[in-house]
Amino acid sequence: MNQSFEPFYDVNRTYDDNYAQGPFGAFAQALADPARVGNQSAASSCESFLGFPVNLPFGIPAGPLLNERFTTAAFRMGFDLSVYKTVRSRAWGCNAFPNVLAVHPRSVDGLLTPGSPELDEGVLADTRYETPISISNSFGVPSRDPDIWQPDMRRAIAAAGHGQLLVPSFQGSRVEGMSTDDYIADHVTTARLVCETGAGLMAMNTSCPNEGHNRLLCHDPHLVGRITEAVKNEIADRPLIIKLAYIPPVATEPWPQDSRAGHYTYARVTDDSALELMVRQTVARGTVQAIAAINTISARLVDANGNQALPGAGRERSGVCGHAIRYAGLDMVARLAAIRERLGLDFAIIGVGGVVEPSDYDDYRTAGADAVMSATGAMWDARLARRIKSR
Ligand SMILES: Cc1cc2nc3c(=O)[nH]c(=O)nc-3n(C[C@H](O)[C@H](O)[C@H](O)COP(=O)(O)O)c2cc1C
Repeated sequence: MNQSFEPFYDVNRTYDDNYAQGPFGAFAQALADPARVGNQSAASSCESFLGFPVNLPFGIPAGPLLNERFTTAAFRMGFDLSVYKTVRSRAWGCNAFPNVLAVHPRSVDGLLTPGSPELDEGVLADTRYETPISISNSFGVPSRDPDIWQPDMRRAIAAAGHGQLLVPSFQGSRVEGMSTDDYIADHVTTARLVCETGAGLMAMNTSCPNEGHNRLLCHDPHLVGRITEAVKNEIADRPLIIKLAYIPPVATEPWPQDSRAGHYTYARVTDDSALELMVRQTVARGTVQAIAAINTISARLVDANGNQALPGAGRERSGVCGHAIRYAGLDMVARLAAIRERLGLDFAIIGVGGVVEPSDYDDYRTAGADAVMSATGAMWDARLARRIKSR
């Protein structure tokens, strides 16, 4: 890694050290000396996002912004949508350090195609951080106790400037002996705790492993439908966002010669009923107002000798994010936009995945995203929002 450059989340420190001492680099400067970064919330024009005025519908999704100091620094750096890292109904520990590794896909363009054999054969992961940046993150969605995160989230909401919006993220916690009804109730409890902080909207994460890798809540659209209905009853007219992992099309056929240009899908989608079922179980029932996609893409991570890269049981596979998943994110957004049009529904799409350059923001908007977010790209370029705005 370039020694003079410091991501605001320091991958060489533990999660707890980042929580207690972060943010770092340009974000730390923005907190210490706001005058130096200027007033990033001042805007000449505003867009509307889920009924809230937003200067530029661009920001940082759930994950790297661990607490109020991180979200406030993000606002000061011009990220007008800042998502507070996913919280739970109870304190939850973090996976063992290290939690981040650099990832190096084999292809010349550095992209990982969903369904590629490389994802199961093994993708090289080490500590050589290079741009365009691709990483793996393996945290296990840690959370502070509500007694700690509630007052902190309240402060985070209050720190948003004009045309800026703090989006709380939460998820349910599956613990041993829990019935499905208990699991649904845990989501509702957590949503209520988020409401108590004064939040005007929230994002529910359905895309992190709840029971081990490859078993994601969003693979069960009927359960997501039941949970979002219960959550919506609790939060009333506050907009509810759901965060999805990549859901592949059910059937595709190759693009006819030369007709792929301008499309963000790998192949012509002939059956998208799995993703459509998710939309029908949520948005179409009036319980969900926005879909954020995607989370990470699961891959087997290996070191240079072909051995498991992350230490410990259950960590043979881990989620890849950053540049490598850019095309998968665009593909999901384009398909969600097509479903929105086909079903005549009105919902917002938040495009996430591999946004590392200002032009990636444009590509997501063109593919149908109403808002765009960058986690890995923003970690490695704290000025990304300002670069988009300054064009
Ligand atoms: C350090 C880190 C922590 C993350 N933690 C969460 C999380 O707690 N909840 C969540 O929904 N997504 C989490 N994510 C996933 C991101 O929100 C995002 O979906 C994913 O990284 C793809 O975006 P990117 O390519 O811009 O990184 C995390 C990502 C990173 C890099």
